Amino acid sequence: MSKLLVEKSGPLVGHVKIKGAKNSVLKLLAASILANEPCTIESVPELLDVEVMITLLEALGMEVSYQRELETIVTQPAKHLLCEAPYELIQKMRASFLVMGPLLAKKGVAKVSMPGGCAIGARPIDLHLKGFQALGAEITLGHGYIEANASNGLVGSEIYLDFPSVGATENIMMAATMAKGQTVIQNAAKEPEIVDLANFLNEMGANVKGAGTDTIRVTGVEHLTGTRHQTIPDRIIAATYMVAAVMTKGDITIENVVSSHVKPVTAKLREMGATIEDNDDSIRVIAGEALKAVDLTTLPYPGFPTDAQAQFMALLAVSEGTSVINETVFENRFRHVAEINRMGANIKIEGHSAVIQGVKTLQGAQVKATDLRAGAALVLAGLIADGVTEIDEIYHIDRGYPQIEKDLLGLGAKITRVES
Ligand code: EPZ
Repeated sequence: MSKLLVEKSGPLVGHVKIKGAKNSVLKLLAASILANEPCTIESVPELLDVEVMITLLEALGMEVSYQRELETIVTQPAKHLLCEAPYELIQKMRASFLVMGPLLAKKGVAKVSMPGGCAIGARPIDLHLKGFQALGAEITLGHGYIEANASNGLVGSEIYLDFPSVGATENIMMAATMAKGQTVIQNAAKEPEIVDLANFLNEMGANVKGAGTDTIRVTGVEHLTGTRHQTIPDRIIAATYMVAAVMTKGDITIENVVSSHVKPVTAKLREMGATIEDNDDSIRVIAGEALKAVDLTTLPYPGFPTDAQAQFMALLAVSEGTSVINETVFENRFRHVAEINRMGANIKIEGHSAVIQGVKTLQGAQVKATDLRAGAALVLAGLIADGVTEIDEIYHIDRGYPQIEKDLLGLGAKITRVES
């Protein structure tokens, strides 16, 4: 198992280029099931999760060629598309469940293993299934598998999501692209990755309107063609490096970022005293003199992203004063608290909130990543902690960060990966 050794590093300074968004490219790959021609997806980040999704598409009968050096994937439609997604792939990565909507649209049947929970919560799929049922699919559960059947094809319907679930919005949107008539998804998620997926689907000939708002209208079409599409930049990796600049009292210019996608992070860092020069496709973050404690509440987009919560907790752990973080999206996304406290932080969990008393410094320690963003938070904490921080279970980090140590080394960090 490899580990990351992170030493106290001086201010991080320089430029870093952001790659394509994991939380978009996985859905674009799932959506390529709908195409009856090749799809070319560009700006694909080299991640474990991308490999898992490719394996899944191949298991369904599709041909996938991945030119890593060009960060490009070309998918070919399956001659004979299978409709069962095996347990071993779904349990590796929850996002595999997003093949259900495309399979249902394309084949009228889909059999997918129930995704398990994970470190950050139970992560049910009830909203996905409610949407499929509203479109006319019959859902049966058995032996850990979910089977959806719509032998007469899907029929457009009005669906209200009790929670603006990103995955449910995406799965239902993809299923609705080939349903008869119009589907209206109300209280839809508004994340940039939803808009990227809708653009991809429309480039393939779908008719999706309103992505990025809370009401998405999909008018079914007969078939979807191929397309060439560039994945949007990863706003959470951008947010992670923005925090790194402030935490290490540095000055980092982040390139290939859509600044409107990181507005809530920019606003919070400015509130803490950072100077942020916001150009459309790059952002320069200059740390302020002191770090002022702030409160934050995670919310569905355009609120503060839950995927940047752990990184901000590491930052607030060394900010002057008391901060409160309210995590409203996931029920168990504080597993990094115990790990950061091992480094000398003073954080108490009170229900869905974490109360953080800022401390002057952190101490390097042996810690472990509990999910991909928690792992990133521990790297950030290690950059400013006295001594060396040894981070274990870094496969979590590799699931979401294509080259975290290369990016940070380029900014002056002292970080090495060791095989143990
Ligand atoms: C996506 O997960 C992201 N993953 C997550 O990023 C992100 O944290 C999350 O959206 C919220 O922004 C990918 O895109 C691959 P949800 P998803 O459905 O779609 C509840 C990362 O760090 N819910 O919006 O699974 C659920 O329990 C990862 O990159 C239901 O109750 O998130 C959770 O509390 C972590 N029923 C809340 O909604 C459902 O049917 C948000 O989940 C579906 C969800």
